[in-house]
Amino acid sequence: MTDTERAIRLMARCDALAVFSDEPGRITRAYGTPALREAQEAVAGWMREAGMDVRRDAVGNLIGRYEGEQPEAPAFLIGGHLDSVRDAGRYDGILGVLAGVAVVERLHAAERRLPFVVEVVAFADEEGLRFHSTYLGSRALAGTLDEETLSLTDDNGVTFGEAIQNFGGDPAAIESARRDPAEFLGFVEPHIEQGPNLEERDLPVGVVDAIVGGSRAEITVEGEAGHAGTVSMARRRDALCAAAELVLAIEGVGRSDPAMVATVGQFEVAPGASNVIPGEVRLTLDLRHPADEPRLRAENQLRELVAEIGARRGVLATWHEVQGYVSTRCDPGLTDRLAAAVSTCGVEPHRLPSGAGHDAVALADLLPVAMLFVRCAGGISHNPAESVDVADVAVACNVLDALVGDLVQSC
Ligand code: GLV
Ligand code: MN
Ligand code: MN
Repeated sequence: MTDTERAIRLMARCDALAVFSDEPGRITRAYGTPALREAQEAVAGWMREAGMDVRRDAVGNLIGRYEGEQPEAPAFLIGGHLDSVRDAGRYDGILGVLAGVAVVERLHAAERRLPFVVEVVAFADEEGLRFHSTYLGSRALAGTLDEETLSLTDDNGVTFGEAIQNFGGDPAAIESARRDPAEFLGFVEPHIEQGPNLEERDLPVGVVDAIVGGSRAEITVEGEAGHAGTVSMARRRDALCAAAELVLAIEGVGRSDPAMVATVGQFEVAPGASNVIPGEVRLTLDLRHPADEPRLRAENQLRELVAEIGARRGVLATWHEVQGYVSTRCDPGLTDRLAAAVSTCGVEPHRLPSGAGHDAVALADLLPVAMLFVRCAGGISHNPAESVDVADVAVACNVLDALVGDLVQSC
């Protein structure tokens, strides 16, 4: 199979997985849903065809293992995630999983075993769509999921622990998903760039040097519902007006530093009728900055603003911390090797930071991580218009082959 044929097949698989969705007509795959299970089954089939043993761990991550020459050899891990945001594109996360499968397929076709195992992982939750907390799959593998996380609830009151159980996992055995770092040589995550830098530089791939840190919070505003015709403006405690002021304040903080980004991505108004003064609002905040200190300063500023706006408007505005993660530097040694693999493929090894979060952040607690970005059209992502080029995907797979080859040399 030529490099181009391999890339075409990978992209056809992305198309095939796009059919598995929680919602008709668009791609939405949250943790623990039948759609995620169906996507896992399709990927498990491709993993088996590529000569891998396949299993699911206690949280429901799908793991394919291509054994090495020797039993007990350490593993090199390649992967991404199969869950998605709401109304997603078809490559975010998925490309990394399928690129890992493509690398193993080529080894298998050549009947080649390596001095190390190649594992391909498809994380069951990276986006945090259902429980609003990210990296649930990779945190289980890294052993950093705590008891508290198991009690997070989704919008229907189902806890993460219950969802794990319903998904065929075992919340009581979550510890068993934790891997021993000694088992691994490292992790490489191939991923679409989700930004415009590679396109601007006319490069098919790039090497990530660091991943931004972020804070996620949920803010609730409780005012008083009332009759839209009878309660005078002076007497109102309108939760929506307070929340609206807050949203613009959040935007202001985001704009106060060119490297900062602040997003309110969810906003719910209750009871939600045109002739009822809003009594309650729930909104989410996603705040990111490449450096931790300015992000934490902005977070404190926003916490104070929530309290100030609440007090001034006579509503109860409450900040609920959901998650914070520090900015992550990719492993210098593995990243240099990845950059060398990019050069081997005739591409300038351009280094760039990631403004998006990735499973590599969670895995960096456990083992050396590196990330390979693949150019995506217009930098568009978290959007059904996500698009990548066959030729770029072919380069990315070749870079991964070269990286694996380089690791073989040093074994
Ligand atoms: C994941 O895509 C994130 O950056 O939130
Ligand atoms: Mn994403
Ligand atoms: Mn992703």
